Amino acid sequence: MTEIILCDLADIPSPGCKGPFSVLHDGVETLVFVYRKGSKVWGWLDDCPHVHAPLEMEADRFLNLTGEYLLCSMHGAHFDPKTGACVLGPCKGRSLRAYPVAILNGKVIGSATP
Ligand code: FES
Repeated sequence: MTEIILCDLADIPSPGCKGPFSVLHDGVETLVFVYRKGSKVWGWLDDCPHVHAPLEMEADRFLNLTGEYLLCSMHGAHFDPKTGACVLGPCKGRSLRAYPVAILNGKVIGSATP
């Protein structure tokens, strides 16, 4: 596993998202994104559990209008941004897959796994 810098923490609004980023995850090029709230971040694979489409319609736009939920632009599924659980929509009860991220010296750090 290799640590990689995804972005500066300051580049993500709070609450807000950044991505997608293309990373090597379990040996496969995979799109991921980061959700930030305050001084914490959560990483998710950009892969809706409904039909495996990316969530966003454009870069960095993953939240619904109220900013409470991650929104899949394909069929409107809503996800809790901290747990990844789908709370509304066609994949209710399923979940986004986590991508581990951390903050180090003001940078958001992810990993590449060959
Ligand atoms: S692909 Fe996300 S709700 Fe259908």
